[in-house]
Amino acid sequence: MDIHVHHGPIQTTAADAIVVNLFQGVTHLGGATGAVDAALGGQISAVIGSGDFKGKLGETLVLYGRGVIPASRVIVVGLGKAEEFILDTVRCAAAAAALAARKLGARSLATIVHRARGDQLDLAAEAQALVEGTLLALYEFKIYKTQGDETPSQVEYLTVVETDSDRLEAISSGIVAGEAVAAGVILARDLANHPGNVATPTYLANQAVALAERHGMRVEVWDADRMRAEGMGAFLSVSAGSAEPPKFIIVEYAPTGDAVLSPHVLVGKGVTFDTGGISLKPGAKMGDMKFDMAGAAAVLGTMEAVGRLSLNRRIVGLIGATENMPGGKATKPGDIVRTLTGATVEIVNTDAEGRMVLADLLGFARRLQPAAVVDLATLTGAIVVALGSQYAGLFANDDALASALQVAGEATGEPLWRMPLGKRYDDIVKSKVADMANLAPGSPVPAGAVNGAKFLERFVQYPWAHLDIAATAWDAKDISYIPEGATGFGVRLLVQWLRA
Ligand code: BES
Ligand code: MN
Ligand code: ZN
Repeated sequence: MDIHVHHGPIQTTAADAIVVNLFQGVTHLGGATGAVDAALGGQISAVIGSGDFKGKLGETLVLYGRGVIPASRVIVVGLGKAEEFILDTVRCAAAAAALAARKLGARSLATIVHRARGDQLDLAAEAQALVEGTLLALYEFKIYKTQGDETPSQVEYLTVVETDSDRLEAISSGIVAGEAVAAGVILARDLANHPGNVATPTYLANQAVALAERHGMRVEVWDADRMRAEGMGAFLSVSAGSAEPPKFIIVEYAPTGDAVLSPHVLVGKGVTFDTGGISLKPGAKMGDMKFDMAGAAAVLGTMEAVGRLSLNRRIVGLIGATENMPGGKATKPGDIVRTLTGATVEIVNTDAEGRMVLADLLGFARRLQPAAVVDLATLTGAIVVALGSQYAGLFANDDALASALQVAGEATGEPLWRMPLGKRYDDIVKSKVADMANLAPGSPVPAGAVNGAKFLERFVQYPWAHLDIAATAWDAKDISYIPEGATGFGVRLLVQWLRA
């Protein structure tokens, strides 16, 4: 989409549709909405007076220009209650307007930046949220649909209109950031939406190499032989049953001159399909396990945004890409393997595979002397039960890191709920025969999400946070800018955290 800022009033802007807004309960229209209302001879006020349009968040009203104004249509989008206005309101309102515009067949859209009178939010951040909401709502994944379902017309132009010339610069920089972040989210969604037969570990490695080339980043891909030579027995235990070769992918972004600084490290679970292995999953909904690489997708999406924004930080992405399959050579329950750090693990259940992959990646991260490490993983069904798709689970050994991530998540509409990681749970990963077990006994496992996190904790020696995104990574219903399928969860949050 072509996105520009334009200096001028919205009521004289030509477009297939112009977008203004309304807070719930407002009857006297001011600002841009009042100006458009006046130009239309009070049409908006009349509809509000009738009670047919209330301004609830995401509600839309369509009126027609009828040659009175240059625009063909006017979309009024509801912002909800003024006292509840937050950055995510802008994303939701922009999404509602964009979806309404597409439905109407509008190709060009002009909009104001949605704001609350005297709000304390940063204008650039609001413009960024506007662009994110628009681009992310219009996202579709239809490349495998070769028949029927004619693509409706697409919104191709977005003009952000502003009357105050002092504000144009902030809006422009917000647009640039919004485009970069949305590109990252969209890459993450695409990667996760591809089925397991396409998005294989090799595919992810190729995507990482292409990404690194696009942005002048360093990239390294380790194959199974290299991983064996390094002693990554935990990771390799997961790929043992698969015909698809596993890949350990390292992508490094360094701003010029800063290569020696301690990096911020992002670690992604990239299980391109999780059958459960010999501890086979039931058939119902097993197909969803093509999304089990959403953590890896979020890391690559973040690196895409980082490359576009040229952030001033050293950032390393580590991705463990493998399938988890049953097979003659597959790992069996009861097997014991040695991890990169030298610790031995009893594999109680081969379906607890994500933590095996991450164990070796987190162990590897020690070598980087990181400032902080954040891993993202669709790790446990237990976090789905605990939190649903409203919050991702956050586990951290560092309070400052945890709150920085929570603050970032509130700003980007990807909230995190902190879960416990205390000493009380230390015994949860104990094993009678090895240094630790990948799962506690019992079915269902008590505190299943904590169990996963406590296992990972054994491998870290630095400020660390673990995001269990099993529920938030796909099919997060009820968020207007998140279509069905992969959500790209984590990209906005990580970019926000890295920029702060
Ligand atoms: N990839 C799954 C976690 C998952 C489950 C993600 C449901 C999204 C939806 C993970 O590898 C897994 O299988 N976890 C098991 C652990 C179990 C063996 C204790 C789970 O949560 O059921
Ligand atoms: Mn599993
Ligand atoms: Zn899994």
